[in-house]
Amino acid sequence: MRLLVATRSTGKVREIRRILDVVPGLEVLDLDQAGIPYDPAEDDLEPFDSFEENALSKARWFHARSGLPVVADDSGIAVDALGGAPGVRSKRFAPDADAGGAGLEGRELDDANNLHLVRSLAGVPPERRTARYVCVAALVEADAEPLLLRGEAPGVVVDAPRGEGGFGYDPFVFDAEVGKTFAEMTPAEKDARSHRGAAFRALARVLADRIGGAG
Ligand code: IMP
Repeated sequence: MRLLVATRSTGKVREIRRILDVVPGLEVLDLDQAGIPYDPAEDDLEPFDSFEENALSKARWFHARSGLPVVADDSGIAVDALGGAPGVRSKRFAPDADAGGAGLEGRELDDANNLHLVRSLAGVPPERRTARYVCVAALVEADAEPLLLRGEAPGVVVDAPRGEGGFGYDPFVFDAEVGKTFAEMTPAEKDARSHRGAAFRALARVLADRIGGAG
């Protein structure tokens, strides 16, 4: 079975490939491998207030473009002291993320978001800096009901970055059970603890059953 992973985030693709690697007979394609060039319309695919709706919207759009079975990931961090923000708006949380219409990307965007997160929590004591990462994976394919799988991972937002791994908010999100930020974890540790690990392991089980059943 071929499966298109519909995201332009290299961090997400790397993690999703690792997690789905356990499924025998599954060929994972990213957007470049599927020959799907960037389209500005992609920037308007996640206007909804839930991870589920945004993930479905992305997966449906890329399914229509490719004809392939598609999985899309909508994810983010919900911070309790910020009333659950940035949540579905995590990718462009920083007010200057779209400054001048240019739109920050990659490391610059992550840095701006992290700075804004730390500033938003200035003066909030450690015990009130609780948060959770959320990931919803949406599977869309021809002639089947879409499938939604959700994973969550608790953490605490710290003031100073720690670690070089992962991406996005990882250097600032501390997992008390592991005693590390998500950026300090090994890839295997992050997969075992993360929201994406939980959602995509559930997807891996569904796909493995299906491929095994067909074979
Ligand atoms: P979206 O799913 O494309 O809307 O963007 C999700 C955003 O949430 C990313 O750009 C990151 O800022 C953040 N995010 C999602 N998952 C992770 C993660 O595993 N580590 C750190 N940040 C994440």
